[in-house]
Amino acid sequence: MNDDQPHGLALTALDPEYRADPYPRLKHLRETCPVYRDPYFGSVQLTRYDDVRAVLSDRSLWRDPLRADETSLERRQILAELEASGRPRQQSILTSDDPDHGRIRGLLTPVLYRRFSLSREMVAAVVDKHLNALAGLDRFDVVEKIATPIPIEVVAHLLGVDEDRLDEFRTWSEAIVHTFNPARTTDQTAAMEAGFSAAATYLAGLLEDRRRAPREDLISDLAGLQASGAELSDEEIRTNCLTLLIAGNLTTTDVIGNGVRLFLTHPTELAKLKANPDLVNAAVEEILRYEPPVDATARVASHDLEIGGCPIRSREAITPFIRAANRDPAAFAAPDTFDISLKRAPHVAFGGGAHICLGAPLARMEAQAVFSSIFNRFPDLALAEEAADWRPLPFFRGLQRLLVRTA
Ligand code: HEM
Repeated sequence: MNDDQPHGLALTALDPEYRADPYPRLKHLRETCPVYRDPYFGSVQLTRYDDVRAVLSDRSLWRDPLRADETSLERRQILAELEASGRPRQQSILTSDDPDHGRIRGLLTPVLYRRFSLSREMVAAVVDKHLNALAGLDRFDVVEKIATPIPIEVVAHLLGVDEDRLDEFRTWSEAIVHTFNPARTTDQTAAMEAGFSAAATYLAGLLEDRRRAPREDLISDLAGLQASGAELSDEEIRTNCLTLLIAGNLTTTDVIGNGVRLFLTHPTELAKLKANPDLVNAAVEEILRYEPPVDATARVASHDLEIGGCPIRSREAITPFIRAANRDPAAFAAPDTFDISLKRAPHVAFGGGAHICLGAPLARMEAQAVFSSIFNRFPDLALAEEAADWRPLPFFRGLQRLLVRTA
């Protein structure tokens, strides 16, 4: 281990230099120590694309952080939180392993994908509604007006949240996002706990309602699965529906916010998109590669193994660093150039293998809908302030505010 290596919190958005521009540090790490045992996190950081891809697609590795050994900070933190709260552990597919992961993911995937495919018009309508509401404004905050409300409302419609509860649902969803904020204030923690509990109670009620009177929504689909004998408990439905909010809202907010800023700071790319609207799908993929919402994901070694010639002990925590892999010159030509017309290798913004993001088709649909219309609606859109206002939230990269002017 090299003590000069930036590590621990210096590799999170809590650090002002990393927050302003994480890429120089990640490049240094990839070039000098691509398999790096981080003493603060107690985890092996992988920054090369090939190593990250190999680990993500290795289905013999574990995801549950509690299977890591005592050196893992994440394990110690989860155990401390469980002890402090006195609550039993509620595990979603995000952090579980087989057989539960395979069972629940296997049941969820077909119903979710069917719902996604039926949601195209709904997504377009939600995006239109929020863009329409901005007509006539000379300035607005993209994060507040577009990037935050759209994903929350889309997931609410998908689940089947009643129209008259949408405002509350929005409040809970925004409070729940503080799950990821280790520096949250007491008020934010209280709001987060209240949000979790209110959303869980509401979802439990919704499940009962839909069991009696099914509608065209995800909760009805899940109730239907149970009725047909699928092994899926009420608690598993609740926990995994809450996971859709936790995993899906802030990430989609960030791809929209980061993307609008990227286009406004790269006029040549914006001109390409305006000239050729068919580039929108490639544009969304390039935003996800160049400025992915999530820094890293996690795995645990289920046996002794070797990565890039370095031995990894069984039960060691491993951190595939998405943000570093997406800028690896061994995989991407001109990795630090935002270019929507280059043909590129697949990025890893959605992770990979057994845990690859379950909401990726929906996130893509939402981002494609936004980037298909926002620059037509506001052809003269420009930054109203030059400096980027990045959120100081570890493991994510997104803007807390993006002020723009329309003329
Ligand atoms: C641009 C937006 C998004 C990004 C960048 C993103 C990224 C990710 C990443 C990196 C993972 C971990 C994958 C791994 O460990 O290999 C993940 C997992 C997951 N995501 Fe997303 N996500 C996004 C949007 C969504 C949405 C909209 C939903 C749902 C509505 C969602 C639901 C999930 C779920 C359920 C998992 C856990 C899957 C599993 O462990 O089996 N995500 N996502």
